[in-house]
Amino acid sequence: MTDYALLARQLDALLDTPDWLTNSAQTCALLVQEVPDLNWAGFYLQRQPNLLHLGPFQGKPACHPIPFDKGVCGAAARTRQTQRIDDVHAVADHIACDSASQAELVVPVVVGDQLWGVLDLDSPEPGRFSADDQAGIEALIEVFIARTTF
Ligand code: SME
Repeated sequence: MTDYALLARQLDALLDTPDWLTNSAQTCALLVQEVPDLNWAGFYLQRQPNLLHLGPFQGKPACHPIPFDKGVCGAAARTRQTQRIDDVHAVADHIACDSASQAELVVPVVVGDQLWGVLDLDSPEPGRFSADDQAGIEALIEVFIARTTF
């Protein structure tokens, strides 16, 4: 099991610049290194209304852009609620970037009252993300927001 409290301290130490580009790239890299069974980890950024642009990520080339009314990432952006999906094939409008992906966790990144983007994690293991994983990753996003100037 991942020690998310330790990971939060590691992320806090790693993010030693306020630059959003550096910090988002470092966050993806740390997640892939420390969280088991991920085949993709990355940010989608809201750079224009109702559309997510692919940002820094680790993994295979991915779908771009993603409108707010499509997929798991779109749902997270639209609702500003974390989407924790045990089986992506059960989600009718799931966007399959990599057929290996079975489970997905998407956490919105809300800065003040603005949606900045989402963090998307994919796993080849069905049911990979527990409620503890969700809480741990949400806490990491709080560290990312606190350390970054947007
Ligand atoms: N599966 C996502 C698309 C992004 S990729 O997984 C990297 C979705 O349904 O929004």
